[in-house]
Amino acid sequence: MKDDATIWISGTVHNIFSIGQILMELGFKILNIITWEKTNPPPNFSCRYFTHSTEQIIWARKTEKIPHYFNYELMKKLNGNKQMKDVWRLPAIALWEKSCGKHPTQKPLSVLTRLILASTKPNFWILDPFTGSSTTGIAANLANRKFLVIDLQEEYLILSKKRKMEIEDPKIATKFRKKIEGFIDNSQLKLFLIEESKTDYGCELEF
Ligand SMILES: C[S@@+](CC[C@H](N)C(=O)[O-])C[C@H]1O[C@@H](n2cnc3c(N)ncnc32)[C@H](O)[C@@H]1O
Repeated sequence: MKDDATIWISGTVHNIFSIGQILMELGFKILNIITWEKTNPPPNFSCRYFTHSTEQIIWARKTEKIPHYFNYELMKKLNGNKQMKDVWRLPAIALWEKSCGKHPTQKPLSVLTRLILASTKPNFWILDPFTGSSTTGIAANLANRKFLVIDLQEEYLILSKKRKMEIEDPKIATKFRKKIEGFIDNSQLKLFLIEESKTDYGCELEF
């Protein structure tokens, strides 16, 4: 990671506390713990617990001292001109996101798109070392960012490649951008990306 980079780690109650502890031991500064509240969680079949309807995502930066990038204005705009909260109400994975095959723990593009737009500028490199079906990468490319992936299992890299090829068709990319949730309407993401591409990021851009 670059010194001014940030890291996002999603987890469940089984591991999120140990991950937070390890990050602090490594000197990371925890910026937020996002609670993703699924608007359509699967039912709890055992009927012995509350329905699991949230996932936590830690957002941290590499050091205490070096400032990080946060697109505060965009996040506010997405939240009807009120500060974006750390609770995100977004749906669980939809069927159209699985057109190339299935990964057992695939994340929805809406969650990944929001965190990428909040913390990166256009053309930034994003690494997902546990990429699975590469939702991070697909969200990155749809938002004009670059991505690198790693996964232990070849079948998931093949699935990732299929997803990457799928969005190389501009019609499909446009359709997906319209379907990603968390925006005021289905043209807001496209309009934001056009506006963002005109913004001068000076020497910080990585073209
Ligand atoms: C939770 S899934 C990621 C799902 C992904 N976010 C998506 O939307 O498809 C984690 C992935 O990490 C991979 N993995 C587990 N241990 C790994 C390791 N040590 N190195 C690289 N990949 C690993 C698994 O094969 C699995 O596909």
